[in-house]
Amino acid sequence: MTTKRKNPTGRVAYVDGRYLPHSAASVHIEDRGLQFADGVYEVFAVVEGRLLDEVGHFDRLERSLRELSIKMPMARSALKAVVHETLRRNRLSEGLVYLQVTRGAHRRDHAFPKAERPTLIITARTLDWAAIEKRRAEGVTVALVPDIRWGRCDIKTTGLLPNAMAKTEARKKSAYEAWLVDENGMITEGASTNAWIVTKDNVLVTRDLKSNILAGVTRGAIMRALKEEGSNIRIEERAFSAAEAFAASEAFISSATGGVIPVVRVEKHVIGEGKPGPVTRRIHGLYRELSLSEARA
Ligand code: PDD
Repeated sequence: MTTKRKNPTGRVAYVDGRYLPHSAASVHIEDRGLQFADGVYEVFAVVEGRLLDEVGHFDRLERSLRELSIKMPMARSALKAVVHETLRRNRLSEGLVYLQVTRGAHRRDHAFPKAERPTLIITARTLDWAAIEKRRAEGVTVALVPDIRWGRCDIKTTGLLPNAMAKTEARKKSAYEAWLVDENGMITEGASTNAWIVTKDNVLVTRDLKSNILAGVTRGAIMRALKEEGSNIRIEERAFSAAEAFAASEAFISSATGGVIPVVRVEKHVIGEGKPGPVTRRIHGLYRELSLSEARA
């Protein structure tokens, strides 16, 4: 007979003022996050017990909440303290933090309720660094999937069904990520990453923020890192097509969860020499150096 353990994973979640074992952590069945995807989230990488690109993630969280008229559940400083306490209770110094704020539980009605008490959920977990470093060393394949998302992808909402569908489609094709293609045949971004190419003329291209994409915090940090280094790589924030991606000398994806990961294949097309290239490697190094030094400061 197996004995049921109360908290078999040992993981602790923060839900609305309480630290609970995952098995006991839950939200109300009428939470608007569940019924309407009426919530936003952030994912932070944790290195040496510190949050990478912390300011960027908190700034974006506040912006997403503002765009949806959801209150910050508490002041930023208090939120930081709760995140660090969640890390401490999970004895986590390397991994990631997931933070979600919903508009809270209310009697079901599409319109935003007048009074609201947001729900705050924080979880923390380890990352499979070995798998990430393997991807970084070998590069990954991306599949092309139509971008069927809504018109406000600048808000980091929990309404991720199209993203989940795209990622599943990619996995069916043995690809690691999906690059989403808009109605004009131009790539917007990945299902959970930003998309970049390096042209044969050594120009770094990524979609502009006026388009319907998420302003990746890692994307922003990469640009700052290149500027601070006084890099000679030119950056163009503009649309690029699948054909331009096929002809690129390098390509990569960026996100909090993996930093910079080289793309060596888009569908059946081999990119450049089919292995991670020098520009991608250098950008990863610069990004990593900048974000770590900021986190340690
Ligand atoms: N995803 N684009 C989309 C659609 C994303 O969901 C993400 C992040 C990014 C990269 O943003 P950042 O550099 O701030 O992580 C771009 C997170 C990691 C996720 O959903 O798990």
